Amino acid sequence: MPANDTVVIILAAGKGTRMRSGMAKVLHRAGGRTLLEHVIRACRRLKPLRLIAVVGHQAEQVGAVATSLGAQAVVQQPQRGTGHAVQMARRAIPKSAKLAVIVPGDAPLLRAETLASLLDAHRRGNAVATILSADLDDPGEYGRIVRDAEGRVEAIVEQKAATPEQRAIREVNSSIYCFTLEKLWPLLAALRPENAHHELYLTDVIALLRQRNERVLAQIAADSNEILGCNTRAHLAEVDGVFRARKAAELMDSGVTMYLPQTTVLDSDVQAGQDTVIEPGVQLLGATRIGARCRIGAGSVLRDARVGDDVVIEPYSLLDSSRADAKAQIGPFSRLRPGAELRAGVRVGNFVEVKNAVLHEGAKALHLSYLGDATIGTDSNIGAGTITCNYDGVAKNRTTIGERVFIGSDTALVAPVRVGDRAYVGAGSVITDNVPPDALALARGRQTNKPGWAKARRAEIARATGGRTAKKAGRRPRRRAAKKRVARRRK
Ligand code: UD1
Ligand code: MG
Repeated sequence: MPANDTVVIILAAGKGTRMRSGMAKVLHRAGGRTLLEHVIRACRRLKPLRLIAVVGHQAEQVGAVATSLGAQAVVQQPQRGTGHAVQMARRAIPKSAKLAVIVPGDAPLLRAETLASLLDAHRRGNAVATILSADLDDPGEYGRIVRDAEGRVEAIVEQKAATPEQRAIREVNSSIYCFTLEKLWPLLAALRPENAHHELYLTDVIALLRQRNERVLAQIAADSNEILGCNTRAHLAEVDGVFRARKAAELMDSGVTMYLPQTTVLDSDVQAGQDTVIEPGVQLLGATRIGARCRIGAGSVLRDARVGDDVVIEPYSLLDSSRADAKAQIGPFSRLRPGAELRAGVRVGNFVEVKNAVLHEGAKALHLSYLGDATIGTDSNIGAGTITCNYDGVAKNRTTIGERVFIGSDTALVAPVRVGDRAYVGAGSVITDNVPPDALALARGRQTNKPGWAKARRAEIARATGGRTAKKAGRRPRRRAAKKRVARRRK
C-alpha cells in the first residue's frame, strides 16, 4: 500500500497531564512497547512519503525514540494544542505531498490496514477531510461527531464544550484523520484558542471546512477498540489488556493451547509453535520464541528467550535472554540468566541458576546449583549443590567440564578450572586444580570415625547430673529460674 503523495504526522508533543507521571505519556508502555512505538510501526507500514513525529514535552527522549524508529522529529515548543502541532509539522512536509494522515501518539491499538482503508475512503470519496470515528457504548471524554439531518459531518465538539444532547452522541472522534493539505493550511491559520484549554484544536478545522462547503467524511472503525486513546493509567491498563488479548487470540488461532489466557502477559512480538501449551499466569516477553509441542508451566516468565521444540518448562521458572534447545527440561523454580544455553535434552531442576554457561546435549543439573561462566560437556551430571566459584572478587573466571563427567554433590569448582572428560569428582570437594580426564578427584577432609564416642559422652553426662538424662537435667534449672522470676515480680 504505497502512499507516495502522503505524509504521516504523529502528534506526540503533549505532556499527558492526566497520566500524573514524570514521564511523557507516549513513552508509557502497553503490550510490551511504548505507545509511540506501536503508532510508528503501524504508520510505517503505509510507506508514506515522510513520517513526521511532533515532539515537545521531553522532546529529547521522545524524539530519540521517534528517530530510532525511522520518523523525523519536529519540535513543537510550547505545546499550544493539536492544531498548533500540525502547524509545526508543516516545515518538514515536502512540496510534492498532497495528503496528510494525522495520528495521535496515544492511540497504540491502531492497525495499518485501518489507516490504509481510511486513506482509500478519502481518495474515493473526493473528501478534503476524512475522520476515523467509532461507536462507543461509553463515549466518555472523546470529542463527539456531530452530523446534520442528512447525516453529513458538521463538526467535532469536544466533550467539555458539548451540550447535553451532543454528549449523548455515541459516535466519537479517534483523532485519526486524513486531510487534503492545500485545504488544511488556510484553516489551521484561522483557528482560535477559544476553548476550555486556550489551545488551537485541530478538531475545530472540521466545522470551518463545512462552513466553506467542503466535503468532510467520517468512516466508522470496524473495531472500536482500535481507536482507544490513553489519557489516564486506567486507559493504559485497558489498552494493555486489549493487546494481551489480541496476542492470545493470535496464538490460539495458530494452534497454541492456553489455559486462562486472561491471566497471561504476552508481548506483541512473541511467537509460539503448534500444540504448545501455555499454563495460567505465564509471561512471555520481548522477542521470546517458543517451538512446537512445548509446555510452559504456570507462573513462568520468559524474556527474550529462545525455546526449541518439545521443551518442558515446569512452573515458576525464569528464562532471561537465554536459550533451551529441543527436548530440554527445565524447572520447577529454575533460573536461566542471560547467556544460558541449554542444548538438546539438557535437564535443569529446582533452584538451579545458570548464567553465561553452555550445557551440552544431555547434561543434567537437577538440584540446587549455581553454574556461571561455565561449559559443561555432553552427558555430564552435576550433583546437587554444585557451585562454580566464578568470581574472585576482581574478575569472572571460567569453569570447563568435559564430556560424561560426574561431579559429586556439594562440590565447589574454584574457577578458572577444568575437569577432563569422563572424570569423577567426589562429593563435597573443593576443586582448585585441573582434573585430568578419567581421574577421580577428592578434595575434602578425610573422615575419621571414633568408635563408641557418642555412647561414652552420654554416660559422662549422666554421671555429672546424678543419673538424670541430659534432657531432663537441662530443663529443671530453667523451670526453677522461671518460677523465681515470677515470684520476684509478684512481690
Ligand atoms: C483528542 C481530540 C478528541 C479525540 C481524542 C481521541 C482534540 C482537541 N481532541 O483529545 O476529539 O476524541 O483526542 O483520543 O484534538 N499533542 C501535541 N501537541 C499539543 C497537544 C497535544 O502533540 O499541543 C498530542 C498529544 O501528545 C497526544 C495527541 O496530540 O498524543 C492528542 O492529545 P490529547 O491531549 O491526548 O487529546 P485528547 O484530550 O485525548
Ligand atoms: Mg488523548
